[in-house]
Amino acid sequence: MGTIITGTGSYIPELIKSNAQFLSNEFYAGNNDPLTDNNEVIIRKFKDITGIEERRYLSQDLSSSDAAAIAGRKAIDAAKIDPESIDQIIVAHNFGNLAHGSNQSDMLPSVASKVKNLLGIDNPDCIAYDIIFGCPGWVQGMIQADVFIKAGVAKRCLVIGSETLSRIIDPHDRDSMIYSDGAGACIIEKSDDTDIGILSHASQTFTSVESNYIYFGESNKLDSNGTAKFLKMHGRKIYEFALNKVPDAMKTALDRSGIPIEKVKKILIHQANEKMDEAIIKRFYRLFKTSVPEGIMPMSINKLGNSSVATVPTLLDLILNQNLQNHKIEEGDAIILASVGAGMNINAIVYQF
Ligand SMILES: CC(C)(COP(=O)(O)OP(=O)(O)OC[C@H]1O[C@@H](n2cnc3c(N)ncnc32)[C@H](O)[C@@H]1OP(=O)(O)O)[C@@H](O)C(=O)NCCC(=O)NCCS
Repeated sequence: MGTIITGTGSYIPELIKSNAQFLSNEFYAGNNDPLTDNNEVIIRKFKDITGIEERRYLSQDLSSSDAAAIAGRKAIDAAKIDPESIDQIIVAHNFGNLAHGSNQSDMLPSVASKVKNLLGIDNPDCIAYDIIFGCPGWVQGMIQADVFIKAGVAKRCLVIGSETLSRIIDPHDRDSMIYSDGAGACIIEKSDDTDIGILSHASQTFTSVESNYIYFGESNKLDSNGTAKFLKMHGRKIYEFALNKVPDAMKTALDRSGIPIEKVKKILIHQANEKMDEAIIKRFYRLFKTSVPEGIMPMSINKLGNSSVATVPTLLDLILNQNLQNHKIEEGDAIILASVGAGMNINAIVYQF
């Protein structure tokens, strides 16, 4: 039995936040000292390192579950299925719903339950639950759906990644400029054709020294509201970790699939940092003693930033709908989906179209 993607959808928020809009932020270092560079310099360095020019934030009236439901509805429409026929709704996120102006997480009921309600699905046999796996959460949701379907427990799943990081970032931390909001979704279902769909996957969790690389911590500015906590990271450590570990996990998944490296047509990698992603792909190809083919790695980070769980499904949706310049996926193409993030977690899927 195989598992195939029959529909994709995404929600790209309308509000554009450009780098220039951070010019008036007061930035402090992790040790609470004010940064000595002026903001123009900080922003220029930021753009050079990450490739990010602008990012998208959700409008005040919407929550993460609203964005998830919009993306989910689009995937359902694209798959041309009856929503009542969905067996599982799996929503990946990190912070649940965060109301605008509050950074208190709301995950009760689960975001997936909220989405099921918003989609108007009545069938009680459609179970809805969340998955917390850092930025690789959506890829892990797809792996979970694949395993449930192949075990005969489910036939059709809706897997969504949705995040509103704009509501949990510290305005006094320059690393906050990386993050953005968005949602992406897929319908994945049973297929009798085992030559296509998800061929293989690999996942890993590293916690011995890595568990606090991305964490929940206080503002870089000492006199900020001391009770509020924000999304924080040790960026350089993540960078080094990702370069050392992600290529191996991708290789494990590819080896398990039996697909030769030359047949891989696209690698859709979590949009964390442009330079980091390029370095990961370079190391990955080095493992096969070959150079990186041109156009192998589509990027959306320059305009969309890092929307965590939403980056990979949004990228897939953009490409399949021919909304990403110079990139397409055709029947017969093998692709890799890969991600890295809080946990620290890593995963990869090999998918044959
Ligand atoms: C955070 C990150 C942008 C910092 O870049 P870096 O190259 O590792 O930064 P370093 O700490 O080595 O510092 C290099 C220079 O960049 C500057 N810098 C560091 N972070 C910066 C930021 N966020 N914005 C602007 N400049 C930054 C430093 O001041 C330093 O400047 P200098 O050379 O003039 O002294 C980068 O490490 C990164 O993106 N890491 C991965 C983060 C990630 O993927 N997070 C999400 C996981 S889901």
